Amino acid sequence: MCGIVGYLGQQPAQDILLEGLRRLEYRGYDSAGLATLTRDNAQHTTTITRAPGKLNQLQEALKSKPCPGSTGIGHTRWATHGKPNEQNAHPHHTDGITVVHNGIIENHQELKTVLQKIGRTFSSETDTEVFAHLIAEAKKNEPDLLLAVKAALEKVDGAYALVVLDESDPERLICAKNASPLVIGLGDGENFIASDIPAVLKYTRDFHFLEDGDLASLTADKVTIWDTKTHTEQQRPVKTVEWSPVMAEKDGHEHFMHKEIFEQPRAITDTLRGRIDFDVGEPVLEQVHLDKLQNIDRILLLGCGTSYHSGMVAKYLFEQLARVHVEVDLASEFRYRNPVVDEKTLIIAISQSGETADTLAALKEAAQHGSPCLAICNVMDSAIARFCDARAGVLYTRAGPEIGVASTKAFVTQLVCLHMLALVLANQRGQISAENLKAEMVDLARIPREMEEILKSENAVQEIAERYQHMDHMLYLGRGPFFPIALEGALKLKEISYVHAEGYAAGEMKHGPIALIDENMPVVVMATQGPGYDKVMSNLEEVKARGGKIISVGLEDDERLANVSTDMMTLPQAPFWILPILSVLPLQMLAYHIAKLRGTDIDQPRNLAKSVTVE
Ligand code: G6P
Repeated sequence: MCGIVGYLGQQPAQDILLEGLRRLEYRGYDSAGLATLTRDNAQHTTTITRAPGKLNQLQEALKSKPCPGSTGIGHTRWATHGKPNEQNAHPHHTDGITVVHNGIIENHQELKTVLQKIGRTFSSETDTEVFAHLIAEAKKNEPDLLLAVKAALEKVDGAYALVVLDESDPERLICAKNASPLVIGLGDGENFIASDIPAVLKYTRDFHFLEDGDLASLTADKVTIWDTKTHTEQQRPVKTVEWSPVMAEKDGHEHFMHKEIFEQPRAITDTLRGRIDFDVGEPVLEQVHLDKLQNIDRILLLGCGTSYHSGMVAKYLFEQLARVHVEVDLASEFRYRNPVVDEKTLIIAISQSGETADTLAALKEAAQHGSPCLAICNVMDSAIARFCDARAGVLYTRAGPEIGVASTKAFVTQLVCLHMLALVLANQRGQISAENLKAEMVDLARIPREMEEILKSENAVQEIAERYQHMDHMLYLGRGPFFPIALEGALKLKEISYVHAEGYAAGEMKHGPIALIDENMPVVVMATQGPGYDKVMSNLEEVKARGGKIISVGLEDDERLANVSTDMMTLPQAPFWILPILSVLPLQMLAYHIAKLRGTDIDQPRNLAKSVTVE
């Protein structure tokens, strides 16, 4: 959940590291630090500057204690062990060895006790510092840094992405990966390490994606990778990412979240590009192994947070279109049960980052039962994507880098991918005519235009936000595929504005939440025409009768809804199965503007992290 950057080359490392960390701040942001090497006569010395709080504080600290040199490492932290103070901020240093680490060392307490017994003194409460001491100890017997790091890793249980800087070996950086993401960016006379692509996208689009168990040595001109399990040198391919550096910029928007909300039409266009081919007659899903879908009798969708909500929407869609039994599970729940899945259960893991620890662990659990596993991911070559690529395949969402912690464009692109997959399954199972399939594909292709229409209503949504900005609670209601949209709307508001919000299936209102309704508990309701519309209208009358304020999301010409609503956010006319995708946009804008009015940190809300790589 933390962010790591490493650089070695000819340029001043401090600027590159700081900028990289700024692009990674969404991964975690309670303290940060840099370490660089400088030459002092024949010797090299390490300069470390660290600060609690956000990166601006580190930037301030660097004014009085800059980090000179052209080799260095940086870290932005999301505390797991030890308070978010300067002492616990990374990098950690001992005996010329400096480390940054992302992950959790599960046996750090035992290791620390052993190290303390042999006289080692710790200066932080972190699990990470154990690494620095282990490497320093290993170097006593094994002067080669790479081998010393390898020896240290052999003692450690847990997840890590680790980068090591050594004063006595100043021309290189050593890095290692196990269950936490790490990529190596390749430059000309310079090389980079990062926990996520956007950190160094300004400098390179060519990457080595490290695999679990990899140990790598980088100089400014050369990268060598070893597999620590087989003790062999590896030739990992160089992959060029399609993301461009501007995609990771705010591009004139005040917040990444705002930019990402407004990028959604473009993101969907990219998701659909090359996949909607009317000559082929069904969506073309290039990296999905269709033969693996043929013999299934059940689908299990797994995810966390927003990705779980897109799975919930897909349940309605798969069942309706493909007539296949579908379940949806929170990855963190699934993995600790004794799940009943087999080779006929298609597992679909949904994850923007492709790194969420619970989703990856749940997948691995399901794979052990012989289930084919398919991923819907945004980040190329991420752990979940790689795991599934060798099984039932990967469907990349192509949303581009999502930096705002609250997921927006990843969600809608996931929904479109799931919709295309549902169509392919429906076709495979003989549940859809060629004509209907074509019509569904046309509907998908229209989404970007419909989204553009909705985004034009931002001012109206902003005015609604002004009226409700001081509320302490909000209830979100929806039926059918709009129920998960209600959950997603409530999640957006909670995440970025810290307003307590709950999503409920509209039909459940009478079983509890109705007791909460009064003029201080506004109700946001998805009420588009189609199945369930009349029932939702009855729910609204019940809310109104109790003095509740209604903010509805409905079709633009729906007067009946307008009459019962206190405020209304409108959608253009669109087919029923497209409306859930569209109806999340006003909810994102509402959450965004309420948060902005309340003055919260929208892109980096307190306590949250963009990818949750610890359990
Ligand atoms: C975190 C993020 C959410 C995201 C969830 C799942 O909680 O803040 O925005 O939905 O993780 O992440 P994933 O990358 O697996 O979709």
